[in-house]
Amino acid sequence: MAEKNYFEIAYTLKNSDEAREMYDRWAEVYDRDLTGNEYQQPVRCAEALNAQLTDKNAKILDVGCGTGLSGVALHEAGYKNIEGCDLSTAMLEKAEALNIYSRLFACDLNTPPIDIKDSSCDALTAVGVFSFGHIMPEAVDELLRIVKPGSPLIIGLNDHYYQEGTLTAKLDRLVGSGKIEMISHEHGEHIPGNDLLGWVITFKKI
Ligand SMILES: C[S@@+](CC[C@H](N)C(=O)[O-])C[C@H]1O[C@@H](n2cnc3c(N)ncnc32)[C@H](O)[C@@H]1O
Repeated sequence: MAEKNYFEIAYTLKNSDEAREMYDRWAEVYDRDLTGNEYQQPVRCAEALNAQLTDKNAKILDVGCGTGLSGVALHEAGYKNIEGCDLSTAMLEKAEALNIYSRLFACDLNTPPIDIKDSSCDALTAVGVFSFGHIMPEAVDELLRIVKPGSPLIIGLNDHYYQEGTLTAKLDRLVGSGKIEMISHEHGEHIPGNDLLGWVITFKKI
């Protein structure tokens, strides 16, 4: 039987330890695998942020920045003050080499708090990080702690995890309790080379 590739292994992850172990191994060839399959979510999320945030000096946290593909799209959209955090130090080392982040730090969003002050960011992106065994929906509470009231948050995720429903249920509860305002859910390409579609969800902290 053929060995599973990393895209397949990613769907089998159960917790942060398994995710860290896989991304530490994937880091070396992650960019090749993703760009080789025309990964679209970074650009789609940067465009969604651009529609909400015109100040290019605003402080943005790229949550689960990985090797920095999501940060590159923000940088190319003109944003100049981007911080990044991730579970995997091997992924962070790749991001560091790009010289586009003003700060990078290791974190596990499933065991908050992470090392960043309350209401200290003007916007936040989380591209490809809400998924099976990755960042869990309850972590949205920690993301809301980090951003200033009125700030946009952009989550890009694939169809499979969107349809699983726990993230959208969490967001619905936050809308219901008056903590966030939903702006949009946009369907489109995620990783076209893998025939994978996905969603860009945009909301604001109230
Ligand atoms: C599919 S990659 C996306 C990376 C980057 N945002 C991109 O678009 O290329 C998922 C990233 O989420 C990180 N991650 C997974 N679980 C995490 C957690 N609990 N806390 C922080 N980062 C996590 C992984 O280490 C990995 O770098």
